Order: sequence, then C-alpha cells, then structure tokens
Amino acid sequence: MGQFGFTGLVCGLLLSLAAAEDGFAGWLRYAPIPCDTSCLQRLPSKLTLLNATTGSPIETAGLELISGLQSIFSQNLTTTQSRCDESSSILVATVEDFRHECNATTAIPELVQDGFWLRSTGSSVQILGQSARGALYGAYEYLSLLAQGNFSHVAYSSNPHAPIRWVNQWDNMDGVIERGYGGLSIFFKNGRVVDDLAPVKQYARLLASIRINGLIVNNVNANATLLSAENMRGLGRIADVCRPYGVRIGVSLNFASPETLGGLDTFDPLDATVVNWWNNITNSLYEHVPDLAGYLVKADSEGQPGPSTYNRTLSQGANLFARALQPHGGILMFRAFVYDSNLNESDWKADRAKAAVQYFKNLDGEFEENAVVQIKYGPIDFQVREPVSPLFANLFETNTAIELEVSQEYLGQQNHLVYLPPLWKTILNFDLRVDHKPSLVRDIISGERFNRTLGGWAAVVNVGTNTTWLGSHIAMSNLYAYGRLAWCPTDDSERILHDWTRLTFGTNSQVINTITNISMASWPAYEQYSGNLGIQTLTDILYTHYGPNPASQDNNGWGQWTRADHETVGMDRTVGNGTGYTGQYPTEIAQRFEYLNSTPDDLVLWFHHVPWTHRLHSGKTVIQHFYDAHYAGAETAQTFVSQWESLRGLVDKERYDAVLDRLVYQAGHSIVWRDAVNNFYFNMTGIPDQKRRVGQHPWRIEAESMELDGYRLYTVSPFETASNGTAIVTSSNSTTGTARTTLHFPASTYDIGVNYYDMYGGESHWTLSLNDQVVGEWIGNMRNHTLGNSVSIYLDGHSATRVIFRGVKVQKGDELKIVGRPDGVEPAPVDYVVLLPSGVVD
Ligand SMILES: *[C@@H]1O[C@H](CO)[C@@H](O)[C@H](O)[C@H]1NC(C)=O
Ligand SMILES: *[C@@H]1O[C@H](CO)[C@@H](O)[C@H](O)[C@H]1NC(C)=O
Ligand SMILES: *[C@@H]1O[C@H](CO)[C@@H](O)[C@H](O)[C@H]1NC(C)=O
Ligand SMILES: *[C@@H]1O[C@H](CO)[C@@H](O)[C@H](O)[C@H]1NC(C)=O
Ligand SMILES: *[C@@H]1O[C@H](CO)[C@@H](O)[C@H](O)[C@H]1NC(C)=O
Ligand SMILES: *[C@@H]1O[C@H](CO)[C@@H](O)[C@H](O)[C@H]1NC(C)=O
Ligand SMILES: *[C@@H]1O[C@H](CO)[C@@H](O)[C@H](O)[C@H]1NC(C)=O
Ligand SMILES: *[C@@H]1O[C@H](CO)[C@@H](O)[C@H](O)[C@H]1NC(C)=O
Ligand SMILES: *[C@@H]1O[C@H](CO)[C@@H](O)[C@H](O)[C@H]1NC(C)=O
Ligand SMILES: *[C@@H]1O[C@H](CO)[C@@H](O)[C@H](O)[C@H]1NC(C)=O
Ligand SMILES: *[C@@H]1O[C@H](CO)[C@@H](O)[C@H](O)[C@H]1NC(C)=O
Ligand SMILES: *[C@@H]1O[C@H](CO)[C@@H](O)[C@H](O)[C@H]1NC(C)=O
Repeated sequence: MGQFGFTGLVCGLLLSLAAAEDGFAGWLRYAPIPCDTSCLQRLPSKLTLLNATTGSPIETAGLELISGLQSIFSQNLTTTQSRCDESSSILVATVEDFRHECNATTAIPELVQDGFWLRSTGSSVQILGQSARGALYGAYEYLSLLAQGNFSHVAYSSNPHAPIRWVNQWDNMDGVIERGYGGLSIFFKNGRVVDDLAPVKQYARLLASIRINGLIVNNVNANATLLSAENMRGLGRIADVCRPYGVRIGVSLNFASPETLGGLDTFDPLDATVVNWWNNITNSLYEHVPDLAGYLVKADSEGQPGPSTYNRTLSQGANLFARALQPHGGILMFRAFVYDSNLNESDWKADRAKAAVQYFKNLDGEFEENAVVQIKYGPIDFQVREPVSPLFANLFETNTAIELEVSQEYLGQQNHLVYLPPLWKTILNFDLRVDHKPSLVRDIISGERFNRTLGGWAAVVNVGTNTTWLGSHIAMSNLYAYGRLAWCPTDDSERILHDWTRLTFGTNSQVINTITNISMASWPAYEQYSGNLGIQTLTDILYTHYGPNPASQDNNGWGQWTRADHETVGMDRTVGNGTGYTGQYPTEIAQRFEYLNSTPDDLVLWFHHVPWTHRLHSGKTVIQHFYDAHYAGAETAQTFVSQWESLRGLVDKERYDAVLDRLVYQAGHSIVWRDAVNNFYFNMTGIPDQKRRVGQHPWRIEAESMELDGYRLYTVSPFETASNGTAIVTSSNSTTGTARTTLHFPASTYDIGVNYYDMYGGESHWTLSLNDQVVGEWIGNMRNHTLGNSVSIYLDGHSATRVIFRGVKVQKGDELKIVGRPDGVEPAPVDYVVLLPSGVVD
C-alpha cells in the first residue's frame, strides 16, 4: 500500500483498505489518516440528519459521512434522534428545515440554488444546504477537508458560479463511446440500457462530489431508438440511481425522430403533428424521469438533421424542444457547433471559424427563456490553442453555456498527460470588452454580464467501463478540476491539483510536488510538440484525431486549414486582407488581433498569414520557433518519466506502474510528434534548423540500413512519420524477419530505443539482442490492450511508438539484432534503433 502501510498500526484497517487501487474510487478513496485517541476526541461522534427521506441527498450525505469517517479515521458515527444537539455532532439539513426544526438564530449568509454553509469547530459540525443537494455538496466539502488531513475550524458559505453544471457523455446505444478512451459505455449495450448500473451509481457519486448537477447520457449524434418504450424505462432506472446524488439526467435527441421513430412523414419543427409528437414524447419521458434535466440537441451539424431541411431557423428548431420542456421545468441545451464542412480552400475568405456567429448572431433574442446555446470554447473544435469563440460576445438576449472537453480528443486521448485547466482559463478569463466594458467569458456564461437568468457549463467527459474511468489515473485531475471550476472559475489550477492529488495519492509532499510539476508542464509541452503559434493541433483530422499528420489539415472542406506552403503559413483572418473573422469580436479585441504587432505569438498563425521567415515578438522566425518548440516540448515530456520514477515506493505499485507505462509511452510518442512535424515543414520549406537537429540523428540506425533477412523496406505514409520515410516489415505475414547491424558507437552504457509501429489487429513479437544475448522482448499489443486511443491499422503517426531498454553496456563492434514475428495484420514493423548516451534526447 505504499505510503499508507503505516496507518495499519494506528487504525487496524489495513484489510478493508486492501481494496485494489484500480482507480474506481477516483478522488473519493477516503484513505486512512493516522488519528490517535485525542485526535478522535476532536472529531464528531454523532450524526443528525433532518428530513433524511429515503433516496434524498440528505440521506446520501449521511451515508457518505458515516463511511468516510469510518474509512479515514475508523470513527463510527452514531445516528442520533436528539435533533439540533450541537455537541460532538454533525448536523446535516437544508437551511429551511434547520430554521424550522431548531429554532435557529444562527446567521447564515445568503445561499443561492445548490449553495451550502459549512461550520466546523472540530467535534461540532453544521452542514446546511440551500437545498438537499446543497447539503450533500457541503458534506462532500467537509469530507474532502478531512481526507486531506485538514482539521481547520471553518465557517463559510459557498455558492455556485452558474446554475448549469453538466457533463455530456457521447455514448452510443451499441455501447461504443464516440471520442471515448476509457472503454465501453457504462449506460448502453446492444441498443438498450445495461442491467448493472453499479458503475453509473459510482459515476453519479463522483459527479456529486464535484457539484455537477446534470448528466447527458447519450451521444449528441443521437439515435432515436433511445426513445423507445423499453429505453424510456431504462432511462428511468438510470435516473433512479443518480437521484440520491442530486444528479439529474438528460438526453440528446435526434431532430428527425418524428420521422424515423414516429413514422410521421415530416420532422418540420413548425408542423403541428411534429410539435404534438415531441410534446407527447416529452410527457412520456417525464413519467419515467420526473426530474429530467432536459435535452441536448445537435442539429444541422456534421450530417445531423435539423430545421434547415424545412428552411426553418435554428431558433425555431430549438424552441420546439424548449417549449415541450417548459411545463416540466426542463432546460434545452442547443449546440452552436454548426458549420459548412464543404468549404473551398481556394476561396481566401472562406473560414469555418466564422460559422457560429454567422448562424447565431441574427437569432439573438429569439430563443425561449429555458433554451441555452452551448458554445465550444474556441471557434473550431477543441484544439490545443484557440482564441475564444466570438459568439460569446454576440449574444446578449440569449442564454449561453461554454462547452469544454475533458475527454482528450485532439490532445493525446489520455495516453498523453495534458492537464487542461490552464488551457480552459485562457478562455474563461478572457475579457471580450463588449461595449468597452469588462466582459470576461466566465461572467458571460454565468449570466452576470448580460443579466441572464440561466447559463453555465458543459463538458464532454466520456468515462467508460475501465476502472480508471478515463483510461488513465492521472487524467482524472481534469474531471475533478472541471467540477471545481464550474463551481468557482477563479479557483487556482495548481491548488485544485494539490487537492486532487492529496485525495487521489495521499499527502506526501514529494508526491504532490511531483504530480503538480508534471501536470502544470503538460499542456505547454503538448502544445509545443503538437502545434504551436496558434496553428492548431497538427493531428490527423481525417482519421483518428490522435497522432501527427499536418497535411490532413489542408486540401479538404473541413476548414481547419493552415495554408502552409513553401514560403508562407497561417490563416489570414483579418478584416483588412483576410476572412474578416477578427471583425466578429468587439472593437478592442478586433483591433488587437487585426494587426501582427499586437497579436500575441501564441495565436499569430491563427490570425495571420506570414512568411516562414517572419520574426515573432520573441525574435525567432516562425520556422525556427517550430523547430525549437518541438524539441523543447519533447524534451520536457522525457522528464515526466524521471520525475515520476522519483515516486517509486511513495505511490502504491498498481497505480505507480500504470502511470509509468503511460508516461514512458508519452515520452516516446512526443519524439514521434516532434520529428514528424519538424520533418514535414523542413521538407516543405527547405529552411534548415539553425541548430542542425532536424534530419540529423547521429545516434540512430535506420532499420532500412540494416542487414535484412525476412524483412523488406516499406515506404511509410505520411512520410514524416518514419525516420527517413522508410520502415521495414516482414516479407510474409507468417514468418519471422531478422535485421542485424554492427555497432560503431564508442563503448559505453546506453539506453537503447527501438521505434516501431503498434497497429490495431495484430500482436507482433520482437526480440532485441546484442551478440545473441537478449536485451529485451516486447509485444505490439498496446492498442489492443493497454491504450485507449482511436485505432490505426496503418504504419503512421498513430501507431508509431518507442520501446526503451535502459543502461545497456555496448562495445564497439557488437552485433545488434532484431527478430520480429508478425501477427494478424501487423508485420512486426520497425523504423529505427537509437543508442542514447546519458543526457541525449533523440
Ligand atoms: C422534508 O423534505 C420534503 C421533501 O424534500 C419537504 O417537502 C419537507 O418540507 C421537508 N421538511 C420537513 C420538515 O418535512
Ligand atoms: C465500527 O463499526 C464497525 C462496523 O460496523 C465495527 O466492525 C467496529 O467494531 C466499530 N468500531 C468501533 C470502535 O466501534
Ligand atoms: C423552539 O422555541 C419555542 C418557543 O421558544 C419552544 O416552544 C420550542 O420548544 C423550541 N423547539 C425546539 C426544538 O427547541
Ligand atoms: C440506432 O440504434 C439501433 C438499435 O441499436 C441500431 O440498429 C441502429 O443502427 C442505430 N442507428 C444509428 C444511425 O446508429
Ligand atoms: C405518446 O408516446 C407514447 C410513448 O412513446 C406512445 O406509446 C403513445 O402512442 C404516444 N401517443 C401519441 C398520441 O402519439
Ligand atoms: C426560406 O425562408 C426564407 C426566409 O423566411 C425565404 O425568404 C425563402 O424564400 C425560403 N426558401 C424556401 C426554399 O422556402
Ligand atoms: C435584469 O433582468 C431582470 C429580469 O430578469 C430585470 O428585472 C432587471 O432589471 C435586470 N437588471 C438589469 C441591470 O438590467
Ligand atoms: C492578401 O490576400 C491575398 C489573397 O487575396 C494573398 O494572396 C496575400 O498574400 C495577402 N497579403 C498579405 C500581405 O497577407
Ligand atoms: C521533400 O520531399 C520530397 C518528396 O519526398 C522530395 O522530393 C524533396 O526533395 C524533399 N524536400 C526537402 C527540402 O527535403
Ligand atoms: C533512407 O531510405 C532509403 C530508401 O527509402 C534508403 O535507400 C537509404 O539508404 C535510407 N537512408 C539511411 C540513412 O538509412
Ligand atoms: C483499463 O485500462 C487499462 C489500460 O488502459 C487496462 O490495462 C486494463 O485492463 C483496463 N481495465 C479494465 C477493467 O477495463
Ligand atoms: C496472410 O497472408 C495470406 C496470403 O497473402 C492471406 O491470405 C491472409 O489473409 C493473411 N493473413 C492476415 C492475418 O493478414
């Protein structure tokens, strides 16, 4: 149990603790903290719940407090009937019940919906919610303090930033999750709601503890069969499991359902039969889920049906659902992600980034009061860096919510650690200067800036059946932080991380510092080695959204263009000579981005089309910045491994090993990214790297230059995802291949890396030997078994990876040999071998 072993001496709880650290508990582990008799006396020993009706969040709060105190301190709370007794007791209630039952005169600051009051004087604790849900949030807050070893006496109230704090799951009815990297759906299988909802219950618990109050359970690319009678009953069961946690569920709808499911000959939103059909469906849903949070609708977007089929506006489409929900108090979230995916790149003025404002600006004020336009943080699509969506500054009489993505679709798919709050904060804290007045995005979505009653947050999360939820233990900091920021966007990214780490890995300061260092460096590093200067993530946008493929951005209708050529790069989005996008911002912001000299370097290629030799504010040329940033980012990623290794013995072995595996993978894949992007642009521009690194790899041996037997050369596409454009594959899919070479490097101790391709659909086996002595062997089973990224069946930037063997003694003249045994469609591919002297990254 790593650092927790010693607590067995104090509490004798080691057995119950021995539950595997498989990640299922998330940050709600309630790990033991040493607490002697006098410490115990300073803790409450009794629990009073007012009005804890079965299934209410008050009852849940009681159960959490009992299990939490028992698990952390072996303290058994006894439930008392002596209502309102304050001594040595935790009281949990709504403010109203408290005032009513306890003749209370305590002054409690004003609470808004879901808010709570927490007062602790050690053994006496008061947890009062504006509602039962708020009381539950207060209980989780108190437990979070205790679980972090914080025994401070406190008295404060806490209120949410915005009423809507939802998560979205993109789960399909067949159980596959679109852009999900943590396994299959916990909600659906074979077109139906699953029988065992235990994981859903635990998910609701995790969400409640970070004060998320809404959960959309199915993909925005929605399937109308969700609305069958059987599935409505299933949704009722999901809601029953979530309700004790104060989490209301909602569903995504398919606009064409009246036709595809209802058998009508139209889905025109103004047609009376369609309106009646939706009203009836909505009423039926509320019979099964009386507290349904509402609907989420993606319409007229990426092939989804919508009101445009009938020449109706998006607001007419949205209001159809909003009105059906009104009698029930439900909310309609309507996505602003509407754009033309068949743009013509030869049109210099064409610009997908302009789409949201073009579609929605003129509809301002036409949406029903319970409708909310859900806007992605940037105008394109969850890229590593985007400017804030200008739509936030163009809707004044319409409710808005921001859409974030916890699932790392374009950002390493949880195989790369990328701690997202610093990215999110570039958006949330951005001041759009509407009417020359402070107009922070966070104040717009809360409703404060434009005096809206409704607004808030949605994040695409996509947890799956994997016990780690997201596929990676350390990716869970993003989900935790999302909840914290949706409640309080001014919370500090680093402090949130400290809390999460203490709850997840314990209070050892070295563990906290190390995880903080790695996480805080992770987004800048990923931006450096994937796509910097505002060019967007240079991932393959046509296939997996995972590994590098800069060419995929251009020459198609998707509009994520870089407009890179031999001499120039970047999108000219100025009003002066470009797409006019800058003009969608309020004047002060428009002026800033219109001109090169006032555009920050990190967005220069987003807004401007410049020569590769253009000098940035930093003094570097664009191309040299690319080269340097990619080297720097990949180098930072290497340090994640050594930093994590300093925690050996301080983190339980199960999670230590799992995290190490991923960080080693990330370190290797960051080199793939670095070389692919640099090779691509070096090839395009012909401008050499001033530091002579690009294309120069003195410690590598290309597989294609080795003596081959049973292996043949293979030209990799895209070329930049193989060193020297070429790899080797076995000549047949059933017999082994051998590649040999004599080493001429100075005798020394090296880390030996082998870059190979781990494709989906095969588990090849490789052996690396020196002078016929085996150095190591490995299997190409990462994507089949251990990684969760979107699959690739090719040799490319997604499947390219590295295995590394540390501290190998090498003499001049040694013979190095790789034997590869193919499996399935995977022909034991090898790109190169690298011998790394101490301190060399390549
Ligand atoms: C208890 O809870 C119910 C349901 O939330 C509420 O109607 C009632 O007013 C509460 N208070 C008392 C004292 O029963
Ligand atoms: C606390 O409760 C647990 C389970 O109910 C019981 O096994 C244990 O003996 C109790 N401990 C104390 C100190 O009362
Ligand atoms: C509340 O106050 C009233 C009047 O002062 C008193 O009759 C009643 O017993 C009190 N109730 C409690 C629960 O203390
Ligand atoms: C919708 O779900 C049904 C039942 O699971 C399935 O047969 C159908 O293929 C799905 N449709 C789409 C477009 O995914
Ligand atoms: C209303 O919806 C229910 C459930 O989907 C369905 O069984 C019923 O036939 C519908 N009624 C009408 C009038 O469409
Ligand atoms: C679509 O609606 C617009 C505005 O209401 C109208 O001018 C136009 O004629 C309509 N087009 C068709 C094909 O109905
Ligand atoms: C805000 O809106 C409310 C109605 O929702 C209105 O009563 C109030 O006057 C508005 N406040 C301002 C400052 O516009
Ligand atoms: C202005 O736009 C044209 C395309 O219309 C483009 O070819 C040219 O490079 C742009 N000029 C500058 C200075 O960016
Ligand atoms: C870029 O690649 C092409 C095709 O492989 C090749 O012909 C060309 O010489 C390369 N250019 C540079 C500068 O390496
Ligand atoms: C690079 O690949 C070509 C074949 O594509 C091969 O002829 C050449 O020897 C390779 N260069 C090295 C250094 O291996
Ligand atoms: C969870 O995923 C990890 C790797 O991502 C894998 O090793 C493990 O088997 C998965 N566990 C479950 C229960 O799915
Ligand atoms: C292996 O190659 C044979 C002959 O080309 C082919 O029939 C077979 O399908 C291949 N097997 C796999 C798994 O690709």
